[in-house]
Amino acid sequence: MSENAFIEYDGKRQELETMIGSENEVGVDITQLRAKTGMITLDPGYGNTGSCTSDITYIDGDKGILRYRGYSIEELAQKSTFMESAFLILNGHLPSQSELDVFERGISAEAGLHHSMNSHFDGFPADAPPMAILSSMLNTLACYNTELLTTEHEGEAFDLVVSKIISKVRTIAAWSYRTSVGQAYMPPNPKLSYSGNFLHMMFSKPFEEYKIIPEVEAAIDLFFILHADHEQNCSTSTVRMVGSSRANLFSSVAAGVGALWGPLHGGANAAVIDMLEDIHSNGIALSDYVDAAKDKNNDTKLMGFGHRVYKSFDPRAKILKGHVDRVLEALDIDDPLLDIAKELEQVALNDEYFVSRNLYPNVDFYSGILLRAIGIPVNMFTVMFAIGRMPGWISNWREMLSQNQRICRPRQVYTGENLRSYTPVSER
Ligand code: CMC
Repeated sequence: MSENAFIEYDGKRQELETMIGSENEVGVDITQLRAKTGMITLDPGYGNTGSCTSDITYIDGDKGILRYRGYSIEELAQKSTFMESAFLILNGHLPSQSELDVFERGISAEAGLHHSMNSHFDGFPADAPPMAILSSMLNTLACYNTELLTTEHEGEAFDLVVSKIISKVRTIAAWSYRTSVGQAYMPPNPKLSYSGNFLHMMFSKPFEEYKIIPEVEAAIDLFFILHADHEQNCSTSTVRMVGSSRANLFSSVAAGVGALWGPLHGGANAAVIDMLEDIHSNGIALSDYVDAAKDKNNDTKLMGFGHRVYKSFDPRAKILKGHVDRVLEALDIDDPLLDIAKELEQVALNDEYFVSRNLYPNVDFYSGILLRAIGIPVNMFTVMFAIGRMPGWISNWREMLSQNQRICRPRQVYTGENLRSYTPVSER
């Protein structure tokens, strides 16, 4: 039994129930606050607001801990695959071999797109941002699956939507790239792994099969595992919020793509490369760049640094950093941007501004270098994040519905004009 909390205002004291999570996080339940006191809480950016209870992912930002369904990200990164981790996130337990086989077969079977979707891809300009294509096409899937536009979140119909989205997001991503480079769409190859098939659909040519290098395939799979869920971040909260109106899963995840696109969220992985290239090609001294990032009169930020939740280190960044060297070696690539990134990290980690604000490299700091080495174009980086995050978004959407969540509808403190009289235009 937890102790209750009290809020005192204007001479009145109100008792509020608390709840303690399985890792001893304490939440003060304010669901009755307005009804009982007329007051609301004010928390722009939701830094102190728990929007839900969740069994899916646990983060301790002070200690740099990330766990999916109780399993540490370090162990999953080392021993699991993206498909197995996706099953875990969606179902709450590691799959038996037969469960995994069924799950993978279901996803593999759904990799194709309706032929008429080719004309949708053809309709986008060659320089269309792939995140815009991805969001549009996820919504477009709804046009081809009208019988599945429900809020069922258990059973065969739901499993089918899950397979469709997790599989087709990869095909849509690869084909949006091919649209941009003017190449014919490459059909999926069901014999390949999830990540291998993605590489094939991205890079195989009709006359020349892409040779999948095991280190590269493993790195893509690892990238997807590390991005598979991250509790109530901006895009996941968006998916939950859209779904809370009982919107279907296709449109909910399409909205998640929009939220992820921004440079403060998933778009940071592309922004990091832009920053490193800017430093490299313009010969900017690292100390000057760091000074600009510290200057409050300057919009420059050290992209790939800082996190709302992680205040010691981002465990995903630590894991990725270790793999970047391995992949570069397997591909025999010497990337000057990696050297700049490593130096920049050291400069920032020894700078009082970053130390005092607990700003450390986040997952996006090294992921761009990894993706760039593999040949993924910069404007596809955030799309890669979206592919990986799909199990997390779907699992959160499902959990929200299984909890019969009320429609999300925050309140505000109004600070505008009081009632005033309308003046006819001739008198203004
Ligand atoms: N460069 C310079 N200063 C920074 C940075 C940065 N990257 N990040 C935070 N700060 C400063 C910020 O200006 C503020 O300073 P002060 O206290 O003097 O006003 C202080 O640190 C606290 O930052 P905040 O903006 O209040 O933190 P937040 O929790 O609102 O924002 C963040 C978190 C990730 C949006 C922010 O750190 C940022 O913009 N980082 C760069 C973009 C980035 O790498 N985003 C990827 C996040 S990880 C992937 C994902 O899960 O989305």
